[in-house]
Amino acid sequence: MSPKVNEAMATHQHQFDFDIYDDDHELPEADRFLLHKAREHTSNAYAPYSHFRVAAVARTIGGHIVKGTNQENASYPVGICAERVLLSTLSSLYPDDPIETIAISYHNVEGDSDNPASPCGLCRQSLVEYEYRLHHPIRLVLAGQEGKVLVLKKAKDLLPFTFTPDDLK
Ligand code: THU
Repeated sequence: MSPKVNEAMATHQHQFDFDIYDDDHELPEADRFLLHKAREHTSNAYAPYSHFRVAAVARTIGGHIVKGTNQENASYPVGICAERVLLSTLSSLYPDDPIETIAISYHNVEGDSDNPASPCGLCRQSLVEYEYRLHHPIRLVLAGQEGKVLVLKKAKDLLPFTFTPDDLK
């Protein structure tokens, strides 16, 4: 017996476009520069527990380059991801200057660092609120120390059905 069709129901799809590069060679120059800074800056992470060093480097619309790294703590849950360190710094220094692009890289000291890692759930929520607040999409360039590079048009693509300030109204 075929299932009963409910005419008050409609199935929807969510999809988004993103670019994949084999490596950083074909990236637009501005993105390659930012990714290079992020790869380099992983050395400033404070990650004595996970040995997973993350760096996020932003270019703002106003042309500022701002960097963040993950900051861990002996009380593990106190640690903060590189992306949220970066957003807090940006919001404190240049609260009205939207972010154009963030490059995120990592160095896994005890493993491989050749595959893009994408922001964790908490960071996705923070990134989307930053987009919402300054009415500007944030491009994301994701890569390890080598290997393929993902370029996303906006953080919101990583978090459909986001809880936003509109939900509090
Ligand atoms: N980490 C980040 O900094 N960003 C992410 O999006 C994923 C995870 C950090 C948190 C922790 O210090 C380490 O990487 C291992 O999870």
